[in-house]
Amino acid sequence: MSDDELVRLARAAKERAYAPYSGFPVGAALLSRDGRVFTGVNVENASYGLSVCAERNAMARAVAEGVRDFAALAVVTNSTEPTMPCGVCRQVLWEFAHDLRVLVEGSSGERVETTIAELFPQPFTSFEV
Ligand code: THU
Repeated sequence: MSDDELVRLARAAKERAYAPYSGFPVGAALLSRDGRVFTGVNVENASYGLSVCAERNAMARAVAEGVRDFAALAVVTNSTEPTMPCGVCRQVLWEFAHDLRVLVEGSSGERVETTIAELFPQPFTSFEV
């Protein structure tokens, strides 16, 4: 799967976002190492704090299908500039993908390519009790 195709799938998913409160739809497409794609959208709630980001919804779908090995993630919004995954999503992505490529594209078509390691350089990984 090409980067262009993964971004295109994220863009198509964005149309299914449920974002009536923020007016900020987000689409994500997560590519597994075996070539499958799991899309996600942000799903908001009248109780605002219960809203869930597109990236985490994509990851949850994949894990629920038994997939835990990922190669790349595409994220798109309607913002002109590329919009990076939030801090909470970075932590959640790190759990299953330490060398994930991250492609973020704005509505202007400007694309930033980075990695989860670059976005989340000092992760919380585990603890001892
Ligand atoms: N949002 C995402 O879906 N992903 C992010 O990485 C940051 C923010 C969503 C949450 C909320 O529905 C809307 O964007 C505005 O914050």
